[in-house]
Amino acid sequence: MKILVTGGTGYIGSHTCVELLQNGYEVVVFDNLYNSKIEVVDKIEEITGKKIAFYKADMLDKESMRPVFEEHNFDAVIHFAGLKAVGESVAKPHFYYQNNITGTLNLCELMNEYGCKRMIFSSSATVYGDPTQIPITEECPKGQCTNPYGWTKSMLEQILTDIQKADEEWSVVLLRYFNPIGAHESGLLGESPNGIPNNLMPYIMQVAVGKLPELGVFGDDYDTPDGTGVRDYIHVVDLARGHVNAVEKVTSTNATNIYNLGTGNGYSVLDIVKAFEEANGVKIPYSIKPRRAGDIATCYADPKKAKEELGWEAQYDLRRMCQDSWHFAKQNF
Ligand code: NAD
Ligand code: WQD
Repeated sequence: MKILVTGGTGYIGSHTCVELLQNGYEVVVFDNLYNSKIEVVDKIEEITGKKIAFYKADMLDKESMRPVFEEHNFDAVIHFAGLKAVGESVAKPHFYYQNNITGTLNLCELMNEYGCKRMIFSSSATVYGDPTQIPITEECPKGQCTNPYGWTKSMLEQILTDIQKADEEWSVVLLRYFNPIGAHESGLLGESPNGIPNNLMPYIMQVAVGKLPELGVFGDDYDTPDGTGVRDYIHVVDLARGHVNAVEKVTSTNATNIYNLGTGNGYSVLDIVKAFEEANGVKIPYSIKPRRAGDIATCYADPKKAKEELGWEAQYDLRRMCQDSWHFAKQNF
């Protein structure tokens, strides 16, 4: 089977390419390289010993994507391409809505035109807003997103659901990721954000390598066991493996299916600091800061549906996530 991976040189996409190739799929990638580097293609090939076809294409320029569809017949598309920085989306909402929504609509038009109507879409736990139940099942109602980035995910879920409803040749899988961290065990693939990181693990890694003096912990007065925010951190390789299972689903049904991809475990900010220190023998100085606008207290998944219907569950524990993150950071930061 041949799979198109949009955004395939990015953090989650690159790990997914590796898992697909190792499971016998052919992989074609396009990316505009806005938030990733072309060298990632070589690294994927180095890890797997297999070739991928790479196209530099931008979802906002529909014609730049056309050669990808002209030159290949795809069994499914895994759609990672998009902008994902929460703070930037608040400052530049037009840029986010345009890129993520117009871009995805352009992609869907080409998929229709070339008769490939199966999409796995990167959604996010952010669509639950402040969740009405913990752990969060897929039945939990979607909530009010606190930023334009989150709204692009929520809106695209609706758009893809409507596209599938109108044309039953379509098959859609919406994957709601919780908090991906970690890196490939080779140390070749991982996440290295530009500038000062917004997310917890990239920030911790910058402190660990000595580029930033200390971690600011955003609030210690939440209604959680130690007062700091609780999240469901999932190893990026586990997340990537979930996409391989989702390919089987999207190619065997004509429906819209939604799955949480999380571990089902909630860890606080201080749990993560402690786990990182213990796993790697590196001290992470921190101080308590005010709450960050838009943050919620607790967010973790009930991953039962993915286990039952996709036959997938996360395997790596927090210690391993911290070790792999550090292994990558030491070589690449
Ligand atoms: P990433 O930024 O590493 O990868 C996204 C890729 O998309 C980048 O390589 C970027 O260059 C590319 N891209 C962006 N706009 C494009 C365009 N117009 N045309 C072509 N390529 C374009 O991000 P990631 O962490 O790998 O996330 C992948 C997907 O998963 C995103 O859609 C993101 O919103 C979603 N997601 C991420 C997280 C997370 O915490 N990392 C959580 C939930 C959902
Ligand atoms: C985790 C916890 C912070 C940084 C975001 C997006 C979400 C999804 C994943 C894409 C929180 C605390 C953080 C720091 C801190 N992305 N923290 N100091 O906010 O759960 O989710 O990434 O879809 O949409 O919103 O992840 O890593 O930013 O924060 O104390 O310097 O760490 O307050 O409790 P978040 P995060």
